[in-house]
Amino acid sequence: MSRFWSPFVKDLVPYVPGEQPKLDNLIKLNTNENPYGPSPKVIDAIRSQLDDGLRLYPAPNADALKDSIASYYGVSSAQVFVGNGSDEVLAHIFHALFQHGKPVLMPDISYSFYPVYCGLYGIEARVLPLAEDFSIRVEDYRGANGGIIFPNPNAPTGMLLPLAGIEQILQANPDSVVVVDEAYVDFGGETAIALVDRYPNLLVTQTLSKSRSLAGLRVGLAVGHADLIEALERVKNSFNSYPLDRLAIVGAVAAFEDQAWFEQCCRAVIDSREQLSAALTQLGFEVLPSAANFVLARHPQRDAAQLAAGLRERRVIVRHFRQPRIEQFLRITVGTPEQNQALLDALGSLLNG
Ligand SMILES: Cc1ncc(COP(=O)(O)O)c(C=O)c1O
Repeated sequence: MSRFWSPFVKDLVPYVPGEQPKLDNLIKLNTNENPYGPSPKVIDAIRSQLDDGLRLYPAPNADALKDSIASYYGVSSAQVFVGNGSDEVLAHIFHALFQHGKPVLMPDISYSFYPVYCGLYGIEARVLPLAEDFSIRVEDYRGANGGIIFPNPNAPTGMLLPLAGIEQILQANPDSVVVVDEAYVDFGGETAIALVDRYPNLLVTQTLSKSRSLAGLRVGLAVGHADLIEALERVKNSFNSYPLDRLAIVGAVAAFEDQAWFEQCCRAVIDSREQLSAALTQLGFEVLPSAANFVLARHPQRDAAQLAAGLRERRVIVRHFRQPRIEQFLRITVGTPEQNQALLDALGSLLNG
């Protein structure tokens, strides 16, 4: 703390991202990155921009990327917003579309950045408990609210809410913006983008960080009614006119063009997830059903914090949340088959030791 800090900054509670370790030889299963690299066409596209053109600002509205996302999802470009990672897109949503004076509804166990944005923008958060089996209780999402947000599949549970449940929430809340954060949808969910033309209060966010292997490029997007997008543009253009740089724009366009690469990576991750879940179950873990690129698992006889520490000693890092209801769980990102095997070997030796 410093005497130069504003009272506002003193009270901020920032998000704490998962560790990005300095050591190279760790098996990193802690931040839900894709174990496979991006499409070679993405790398070529980025290379093609590495010239004197970098002295020029990028296209402020990243129109080429919006057009490519619009045609990928069969919507108009006016229904697409892009930002520097979906974290930035989410920040603008909290700022531009959630109302003050009524609480924003979100699950008790979900993306821990949501309450941070509430703190940043002075919005009240109301957390609604997930059911005993960690599913979202659709019937709880009603009554006066300033907006609704949840990930689908949820994070860190990995559990999917079917589109019918999302429609129930949309229908019960015609006067609130309902945000479905689809960071992990490509690993087993069905996108709610198909519903945006029927629900003017629906906004769907996605990221290129997970299924398109581009966490390092920082590209996220939102799709919804053009009026919602316009609100996001107003905030973005009052904050940073150029959130996506020249490399990010061409790289992201190329990622959407290489469908074969995308499908192959998602398939490999999904297959590995199923194998990993089965092997963890064999080791005695309870594994929540995941539609994401991670699993949430607990061992009935072993303390999760101790398991996480033991794994780290064996050079495998996973995520452990010191949070009510899930403090005995580990969130394990699905790696390559070799990485998953190394994790299972390390767990096997910890459980036997
Ligand atoms: C549920 C959820 N939403 C959004 C994000 C943000 O992703 P990014 O800012 O990389 O697009 C994450 C990242 O882990 C996430 O888990």
